[in-house]
Amino acid sequence: MNDSDGYLLALDQGTTSSRSIVFDLAGRALAQAQQEFEQRYPQPGWVEHEPEVIWGTQLATLREAVRKARIDPAGIRAVGITNQRETTLLWDRRSGQPVAPAIVWQDRRTAGLCDALRAEGHEPLFRERTGLLLDPYFSGTKLRWLLDQDKALRRRAEAGELAFGTVDSWLMYRLTGGRAHVTDVSNASRTLMFDIRHLAWDAELLALLDVPAAVLPEVRPSAGHFGTLDPAILGPEIPIAGVAGDQQAALFGQACFAPGMAKNTYGTGAFVVMHTGEQPVTGDGVLASVAWQLGDAPAEYALEGSIFVAGAAVQWLRDGLGLIPDASRVEALARSVPDNGDVYFVPALTGLGAPFWDPYARGLIVGLTRGTRDAHIARAALEAMAYRTRDAIDAMTAATGIPLAELRVDGGACVNDWLMQFQADMLGVAVRRPRHTETTAQGAAALAALGAGVLDRTDIAENWTEDRGFIPGMEGAERERLYSRWRQAVELSRGWART
Ligand code: G3P
Repeated sequence: MNDSDGYLLALDQGTTSSRSIVFDLAGRALAQAQQEFEQRYPQPGWVEHEPEVIWGTQLATLREAVRKARIDPAGIRAVGITNQRETTLLWDRRSGQPVAPAIVWQDRRTAGLCDALRAEGHEPLFRERTGLLLDPYFSGTKLRWLLDQDKALRRRAEAGELAFGTVDSWLMYRLTGGRAHVTDVSNASRTLMFDIRHLAWDAELLALLDVPAAVLPEVRPSAGHFGTLDPAILGPEIPIAGVAGDQQAALFGQACFAPGMAKNTYGTGAFVVMHTGEQPVTGDGVLASVAWQLGDAPAEYALEGSIFVAGAAVQWLRDGLGLIPDASRVEALARSVPDNGDVYFVPALTGLGAPFWDPYARGLIVGLTRGTRDAHIARAALEAMAYRTRDAIDAMTAATGIPLAELRVDGGACVNDWLMQFQADMLGVAVRRPRHTETTAQGAAALAALGAGVLDRTDIAENWTEDRGFIPGMEGAERERLYSRWRQAVELSRGWART
């Protein structure tokens, strides 16, 4: 294939930045653009984004990437969208103006609402229908909160004047000039309102959450037709043909197409996701979600261990504490000490996700002595990513009964060789890093290519090549000693913010 076959444009709207990448059909990135944007923390445990900023930064990077690629926009065969999931937006259907800030997935403000629904005995029903748990992470209680805090909003929602969406929906609404109010099955499966077996919004859950169906977007397969770009964006009316939440897109980009194949993305948070075939699999402390649905084919499912804070702990050491000058120094610091000095850092900065699901846990550094140095704390932050990954994978293995064969990795911190080796040691399985680590955007581009009928799945699997494999080398007894110390530290962090 050569450039004359055309291009794919992937939009990757993440928690801390908006990115756009132009790919050729062989999966090579030709140009990219990225903009970071403001995070708002109006109260402890709250995290918000400005919807206009999400849109503005995404549009600016889209145009910049196309300009940098020096291509004729008419050669773009399809647009793919991937996004931070669960983040909840509400806007006026007619004017397209947001009526509230975006409540970010990390936001804990609905912990009490989740407790109340659990106390009323509703958790088993939510779990059975959605594959999720009652945790403030998911969109449903965030949407309910928005409608509860302003009676006028609720009235307008009931009258059909407002539109709810996750970030993909919001972007598509704007990209199509307000013509499409749609989402895909993978994003819908993270809202706590979607029946993952019947692939439909669930009236009973909507009633429990007190959310009117009139606000919901139409749900489509992840590869197919969502709408076309408004000519004001780039000129040509390019189809939007692939959409998936970022973790499902990364699973796709990592070519994890067979049951049991798994990936971990080390970003702001870390998300371990395992393909489970055409049936959802649930288990204690881990989530079942739709991985994707390709056109009319049956949906495929995934098991997920969501870890809220991973790379964000290193950012916090840099920005919050000023302990390290920049994140790239952390590997050298970690290597500069022979061991962790019995220091553990539980980065429960926004509570704990899988498998603990404790919105009241808070961060903790334990084991400090007069001999503790900055390097021990930096090393503890890296080790924590590997321990949290093992927490999640142990729960997944228990749920599926399938031992993990290997772990494919991507995301910012996967370039850290020390961390990848420690991860392999802590899991006792090989960690495999692909040559192209832009797997999230690649997954979105690949879904768009499938949706537009430009590529098939075999092409995508063939595009995956290994950069380096990390083979476990640590003695089993040492691995278990370190891990059991970690679990002691986790117990100490739990429930701290419950007042
Ligand atoms: O579930 C949240 C996840 O989708 C966020 O991913 O990469 O934006 O931190 P990221």
